[in-house]
Amino acid sequence: MIHKKLKSFPDSFLWGASTSAYQVEGANSEDGKGPSCQDIKKVPEGTSELDVCADEYHRYKEDIALMAEMGFKAYRFSIAWTRILPHGTGEVNAKGVEYYSNVIDECLKYHIEPIVTMFHFDMPAELDERGSWSKRESVDWFVEYARVLFQNYGDRVKYWLTINEQNVLTLVGPVIGTLRIPEGCTNELKEIYQQNHHMLLAQSKAMALCHEMLPNAKIGPAPNIGVMYPATCSPEDYLAAQNANGLRNWLYLDAAVYGTYNNLAKAWLEEKNAMPDMLEGDEDILKSGKPDYIGFNYYNTGTAQYSDGTEPLTGASSQQENDGFPGLFRGVSNPYLPKTEFGWEIDPTGFRCTMRELYSRYQLPLLVTENGLGAYDTLEEDGTVHDPYRIDYLKKHIEEIRLAISDDVEMMGYLPWSAVDLISTHEGISKRYGFIFVNRDEFDLKDMKRYRKDSFYWYQQLIKSNGTIL
Ligand code: BG6
Repeated sequence: MIHKKLKSFPDSFLWGASTSAYQVEGANSEDGKGPSCQDIKKVPEGTSELDVCADEYHRYKEDIALMAEMGFKAYRFSIAWTRILPHGTGEVNAKGVEYYSNVIDECLKYHIEPIVTMFHFDMPAELDERGSWSKRESVDWFVEYARVLFQNYGDRVKYWLTINEQNVLTLVGPVIGTLRIPEGCTNELKEIYQQNHHMLLAQSKAMALCHEMLPNAKIGPAPNIGVMYPATCSPEDYLAAQNANGLRNWLYLDAAVYGTYNNLAKAWLEEKNAMPDMLEGDEDILKSGKPDYIGFNYYNTGTAQYSDGTEPLTGASSQQENDGFPGLFRGVSNPYLPKTEFGWEIDPTGFRCTMRELYSRYQLPLLVTENGLGAYDTLEEDGTVHDPYRIDYLKKHIEEIRLAISDDVEMMGYLPWSAVDLISTHEGISKRYGFIFVNRDEFDLKDMKRYRKDSFYWYQQLIKSNGTIL
């Protein structure tokens, strides 16, 4: 659709950015924090440990002041479960509660809306040891934790996000360092989707609890969504793309919004003897919690080709790369798209396709909770960081949001990844995303000083003009 006149970003549009606790905070055993699965995992060779990260735990005031200088209307950060409940359940750590209370107050001081992710890849180590999401009790563990968060921060936090990228945890758990397969398991696929089922139940209960305890708050999921294209216009490739969309995208949102399993994902899981066991009442639980909006992370689209079922496909190899599943689809690269230095395709138009598709499927307001470019940045001698490639990437994606708004998609905000440089999921700090440069290397912590990248000034102007000056 070509619009002669573009609609404007709404005045209430939430411009800002995102981070997650385990990637940015450091101080992972300070002030009573218990270990999470991220703290005890073996990091990929050649990448930094997660004990210091961007030292946000000690520098949040400085960083939030920089976000305010950029003009942020919102800041999405995650709460580390084990700062609040060091053992995952039971004893509450007053110091941890106080820390996020201070972070929230610091945001509010600058009229920055705190947007809280409750769980971003960091299961408490003790609960991990007890079986993590494979245990049915994980649903109760999460609800107990949610209750503590709502009790302590519900007076100031209006926007909540449940589980970051549940689909990534399910499709690519080993890359994120989170997948636990219990000893003696004979059906790994079923086990993975059983864990996914527990997360869906936990999410639904947390959304219902949020509405009960905080009637004025809004809560939503935060999966990683990017539409899957058919590799060609052959009907078989179209079917493959539908399969891929069902398994990668709609399984998570159909459950969150409608409380049902996506029929294509379900049919495939049944075929593979991997449909999770459901207890009586689970269907009601899934329907009991409803999101007020859809948060979603977008990095790129995918492309699917017909698979005859004989290929040795392995499933995802990173959040954004998936070679498919035999008989379901074969993931192929898209010849129309360039790639980042780290091999992820770049597809701004696919962003618009994704927003349109999401809105027409679910008719709920959309909040972009991540989007961004991981790249090698260089700090120059004069303290500048020139990142035109990041500006170009963000600019092209923001243009597509405006087009989506002109398509009558209801957009709430844009929170790219990331506010400040942090440790990537499996490629260290060398893969940077921030507007704010952190002066450290993979193993040399240097002085951790903050520097404003060129993209910092560019984003500042863009926010000031509410998206009109790109
Ligand atoms: C998303 C995650 O998958 O992508 C973030 O929610 C992550 O935690 C981001 O950092 C970018 O991915 P990566 O692997 O480059 O860090």
